[in-house]
Amino acid sequence: MRIARPPFARRHFDRKSAAALVGAVLVLFASGGAPAQVQTTLADGLLPRLSEWLAPDATPDNVVQALTERASEEFSPAFLATEAPFLVALGRLAFRSPLIFGSYAARAGLSCDICHSAGGTNADFFVSEVSDRPGNVDVTHGFWRRESEDGLANPINIPSLRGVRWTAPYGRDGRFASLEAFTRNVIVHEFAGDEPPAVIIDALAAYQRALAFPAAAQVGPAGRLTAEAGADARRGEVIFRRDCAACHIPSAGFVDRRAHDVGTGGHFDTPTLFGLAASAPYFHDGRAAGLQAVITHFESVLGLTYNPTQRENLYAYLSAIGAEAPPSRRLLAIDLADLDKFADALDFPLNDEDLELTDLIAAMLRTEVGRIAERFPPESHAAGRDLLQEWSRDLIEVTRLAEADRFAEARDALTAWRSRLAADLPALARVESTSLYNPETLRRMVITAYQ
Ligand code: HEC
Ligand code: HEC
Repeated sequence: MRIARPPFARRHFDRKSAAALVGAVLVLFASGGAPAQVQTTLADGLLPRLSEWLAPDATPDNVVQALTERASEEFSPAFLATEAPFLVALGRLAFRSPLIFGSYAARAGLSCDICHSAGGTNADFFVSEVSDRPGNVDVTHGFWRRESEDGLANPINIPSLRGVRWTAPYGRDGRFASLEAFTRNVIVHEFAGDEPPAVIIDALAAYQRALAFPAAAQVGPAGRLTAEAGADARRGEVIFRRDCAACHIPSAGFVDRRAHDVGTGGHFDTPTLFGLAASAPYFHDGRAAGLQAVITHFESVLGLTYNPTQRENLYAYLSAIGAEAPPSRRLLAIDLADLDKFADALDFPLNDEDLELTDLIAAMLRTEVGRIAERFPPESHAAGRDLLQEWSRDLIEVTRLAEADRFAEARDALTAWRSRLAADLPALARVESTSLYNPETLRRMVITAYQ
């Protein structure tokens, strides 16, 4: 069943109405504008803001799924050990925050995490002005930043950042040597953000470097299939090693860190083949809808002719190495545990007595609180919403103390805030099942909104 999208879904694309209601909760929570004045209805909160990034023909089920599931985010313990924990916590927070962007992107609530969900990709991302198919976006478009318009309609398929530590140089065409340079370019040149503090760039890079390749259960050391893999996939592995492995080197995360012309319209970086299950469509411009199309493309480019069995074997092999963990449910307990981890990011500037960074990170934390608040609609969950507004006010108080140069008290206030999260959890948990954390409640709301 396909139903026309509700009219509110496109509202904030009227770029002239800067005070677009969409994202109002987030922006107000983040700006510290008196939270008591946050009066939003269902139609002004969660639903339009997050379902905004889906194609117009998305079904109610697609919307519910996008709002209640989250891709799995895997860190490599070995990578984490080489990065400062504070930087990873801050980077993860900044990755989810619209506050690092400028202009339209910030108002609309765009963040790195909207496109690179949990560090992976977002195969459903679609904005009609800049996408030609779901999963693709033109990032050099005046829509995001006037000066960046390159005059070309060149939507690019959003790549996964899992294992990005191993896939330099960056950009589909490999034009950036370092993750830091690429990230700064995204913020300043693509999404019109102000020059970010250096530590934000370092943090975003540390977070990205900590992301592991998606774990494929049937892939063992050196990228070899394990005995668990089926016979067809193992036969496919033999074909792959003969025809494909020179570029997609199995022991190196299936990349060679070089660009090649494989008949897709230019030279592009060899992409990893981990996580293929969640990253269709394929190639830099998403021209191949599925893996079968990729295989037939390479047959013609490399002058190979496979019989149907060989094609199936290769397909089975690509599916085995590209397996991806299923998404998990969004749960209040997980969001609160995250909030507590994000608060680690505030310890550092408070200890360092760095006011600018304290302000920025506290605002990012308030955005996270605002996100949780969106799950408790004011008309049905006033008490829960009130509680979250108090959390937000308490964070504003931390900032005020820092501004008054009372950093010791600000640190105590943060400690008290963290205990408060734990103390308030039961009260919120009691109403979680009737809140928008519950897919069924959300489904009813989506169906109503679509009518
Ligand atoms: C609107 C969607 C969108 C947003 C928001 C976004 N990206 Fe991307 N990202 C893309 C697309 C599309 C590409 C491929 C672009 C290219 O090759 O030039 C990309 C490429 C990348 C790459 C290169 C990966 C590789 O292996 O070459 C990195 C790193 C990256 N993004 C990090 C970020 C970070 C960090 C942020 C937030 C500061 C961010 N992105 C925000 C869509 C997005
Ligand atoms: C000469 C080097 C080279 C060889 C050989 C090669 N590839 Fe690739 N492969 C690439 C490059 C470069 C791209 C990216 C092209 C683009 O983005 O337009 C790519 C893209 C892909 C993709 C899409 C990944 C994604 O996320 O979009 C798959 C799947 C793939 N290759 C599988 C194979 C298979 C299977 C073979 C052997 C039949 C093969 N490749 C042989 C270089 C190679």
